[in-house]
This record gives sequence, C-alpha cells and structure tokens, in this order.
Amino acid sequence: MSRLVVISNRLPLGDNPSGGLVVALQDSLRNSGGLWIGFSGETPSEPADSLEYHPGAEYQRASFDLTPADHEAYYLGYSNSVLWPLCHGRADLTDIDPDYGEGYRRVNARIAALVAPHIRPDDRIWVHDYQLFPLAAELRARGIGNPIGHFLHIPFPGPENCAVMPDPHELFEWLSQYDLLGFQTHRDLANFTESARQLAELIPLEGNRIRLCGRELRRDVFPIGIDTASFIEEARTAQDVDRMRSLTGAQMMIGVDRLDYSKGIPQRFRAFQLLLENHVEFHEKISFLQIAPPTREEVEAYQDIREETEHLAGRINGQFATVNWTPIRFIHRPLPRNVLAGLYRQARIGLVTPLADGMNLVAKEYVAAQDVSDPGVLILSRFAGAAETMQDALVVNPHDPHEMAEAMAQAMHMTANERRQRHSVLLRDVVEHDVSWWSARYLDALAGAS
Ligand code: ADP
Ligand code: G6P
Repeated sequence: MSRLVVISNRLPLGDNPSGGLVVALQDSLRNSGGLWIGFSGETPSEPADSLEYHPGAEYQRASFDLTPADHEAYYLGYSNSVLWPLCHGRADLTDIDPDYGEGYRRVNARIAALVAPHIRPDDRIWVHDYQLFPLAAELRARGIGNPIGHFLHIPFPGPENCAVMPDPHELFEWLSQYDLLGFQTHRDLANFTESARQLAELIPLEGNRIRLCGRELRRDVFPIGIDTASFIEEARTAQDVDRMRSLTGAQMMIGVDRLDYSKGIPQRFRAFQLLLENHVEFHEKISFLQIAPPTREEVEAYQDIREETEHLAGRINGQFATVNWTPIRFIHRPLPRNVLAGLYRQARIGLVTPLADGMNLVAKEYVAAQDVSDPGVLILSRFAGAAETMQDALVVNPHDPHEMAEAMAQAMHMTANERRQRHSVLLRDVVEHDVSWWSARYLDALAGAS
C-alpha cells in the first residue's frame, strides 16, 4: 500500500484541538497511518528551510514555520479575511489587499518547495482546505506527478461570491491541477460547477469527470463524519455527568463552536432571549451552556463577534437571572474531548445553528454522545452541510429567532418516544457514515482518478 501524505495548514501539535479539520484528520490518520505535514504555529523571523519531523506511534508529523509577515498575509489575510468570508457568504467582511494575495501565493510556493523533496514516487497526496488551493499547481511546477487530491472542508462559494475574489479565474486554474476535488455537500458541488462554468472553463464529461481549464480531473461529494464508535464510548464512560445535572437543577441546552461569525451565536442568543420572554414556564428550567473558544483573534471581524456575544450574554443574564439560575453560561476555552462528550450527553438540547457551515461535526458528536434510552434533541440549521442528511433533527432557519425559539420549546416538550425515534434515525447515519467511511471513500476515488 502506498504512503498517504496529508497536507493542511493546521497540524495538531498541542492538546484539545478545536476545528473540524484537525479532529477529523486525526481520527482518519490514526486508522491509515502516513505522514501529516502542516504549519508549526511558530513565526520566527528566520524560519528553517526544512521540515521538522515529529515522530508518533500512529503516524508521522512534519511541520514548517512561517515568518510573521507570511503568516499575516497568507493566514490572517488571504485565507481568513478574503477566502473564509467569501466561502461563508460574507463579502461584507472581506479585507482585500494585494499584499494578502501575493503572500498567499508566496507561502503556497514555499510549502511546495519544502514538501517536494520528501515525496516518494508512489505517495498519494491529500491536500486539505482553502489555505492551500494553489499547492497542487506549485507541486506540479516542481515535477511532482503523483496523484494529488483536494478536500474542501468549508462551503464552496457560488458565482456571486467567487466574483468578489481579486482573480477568480486563478482559483479554478489552481484547482485544475488536482486529480480529485472533494466537497462536503451536493450544494457545494453545484456551486463549484456553476462558478467554474461562469468564471473559468468547465466542461462536464462522463460520470464525475470534468475538463477544467483544459485539464481532466474528477469531482465528487464526500460528506465528512466523526470517529463515531470512540465518541460513543467517550460519552458513555464520561465521569460526573449525573453530578453536574444535580448541581444545575435545570435542563441544559448546549452550543459548542469556535467563536466564529459563521456559527450564528448572537442569533441563537437572541432566540433564547425570545424563548424566555415568551415562555415564562421555562424560567429556571433551562440553562444554556455555550462553549466557544476564541479563534483567529488578530482578525477584526473576530474581535467584533466576541464583543457582540459577550455583550448579549450579559444583557440576557441581567434581564432574567435569579439567585438560583444563570440563563447563559459562556465558556471561552477548549475542553478535553471526554468532558465535551459528557456535556453533550447531559444536554437535553444540542443547538447547532450556523449561518453557513461546510458540515459541522458538533451536530454528529452531539447525536453520537446521547443515551439511546433517553436522548436529547438536535436543533440544526438548514445551512449546515449536516442538514443534507440529518433531516430528523429539528431543522431551523438560523436567521429566524421566532422559529428557533419555538424549536427550543418543542424540544423541551418533546415526548421520550419522539426523541428516541428521531435520534435512532440520526444515529444510524452517524454510525454508517463515520470518518473511516469518509476517508476510505475519498482515497478509493483518488486511486481511481489518477
Ligand atoms: P469548525 O470546523 O468550523 O470548527 P465543526 O463543528 O465541524 O466546526 O468542528 C469543530 C470541532 O472542534 C468539533 O470536533 C468540536 O468538538 C471541536 N471543538 C469546538 N469547540 C471546542 C471546545 N471548546 N473544546 C474542544 N473541542 C471543541
Ligand atoms: C475550520 C477549517 C479548518 C481550520 C479550522 C480551525 O474547520 O475548515 O481549515 O483548521 O476551522 O481554524 P484555524 O484557523 O484555527 O485553523
């Protein structure tokens, strides 16, 4: 079996990773082994011109450093102030600057130059996410003819958002150098096809083959999953769940997200406020735990969302709290996975209401963590990729606080029988389509594509 080389910006070198990409790839590399290359998180003024290896029992990791200027232009700038907002439908939050585009190209070229000497002739290369769109083109320019696949963890923008990019045609030229393009949902695949048709040259061929900017490749949908079996086990054996329940006295509603504007956290706080305004019967009976570690804090839009959410939580608590009850508890740090699993299991409601999201693994983790005899209810945004399959959740419009508040009330009143019925359908999907299924399907398709 040839070696798998995974390349992504984020590489797990510390504890408690938050972010779907790292969580999923960690689970998948544990099964397949291989080499995972990514950014070290270090920004010295003179980075080494080689990869640093970090051997591990299950797979190897190798990292590279970036200069502060490269990190700013490539990661904070082009990746997270241009591509991320456009992929999440927020052209209003972009910060377009020619230095960012130049830094993005420069860093991708540098990563390719660092990686190319380590590639063996029969390696399969799997590149992840929007930070590395140009990587295949840069590797090809350095003589790498190996199969190279790309998987996009976040939504692919439609033509109106692609058109906001400084050079949309370039994006499709970069993508054309892969052998397989993977997307989370049919919606993303349709957006890709339409954007490429309008802004570049895409000719559909037989099956999932296309000709893009003159090169033949394949594209398909590969909805990502979680390591369901081990998450079920984590939740089942989580400590202190009953103790926590008796401490709070109220039913718990939980939200777990990076503190990102795409996650719709202020919208869900407003919906909760509306629930408490319209349903006094829930006062002291429901308490909302939002766990949201800050992310990309140097980017202004992320500072704004932190301020907005803290302000809102303070206002709602001020309006409704009693001596015995704090309606919203807001935790700003990552938690160990077993603690998270225990909290999900304890929560009567899992609130997953992004305004836009590639898949959303939290929705799947919440379902996996439930006690099958007394499961909680998932409230899920119709704009999460997960909603394409998880229709037995209470599917809501995250922009509509009234609909969300009523879904919360419905979840609180739902009979155990209905909760079990909905949960068993959701769980079946999360068990069948787990992270191993996802990576095996992708890697099979990559083998057939090259
Ligand atoms: P995204 O990839 O946009 O962050 P996902 O929901 O797909 O969104 O993935 C988030 C992942 O990060 C999940 O596996 C979740 O458990 C994890 N995560 C999010 N917040 C925390 C936290 N506070 N502590 C630990 N893990 C977290
Ligand atoms: C999402 C993206 C990943 C990213 C993660 C965390 O899951 O798809 O590429 O790693 O968010 O964001 P960060 O910027 O901290 O890596």
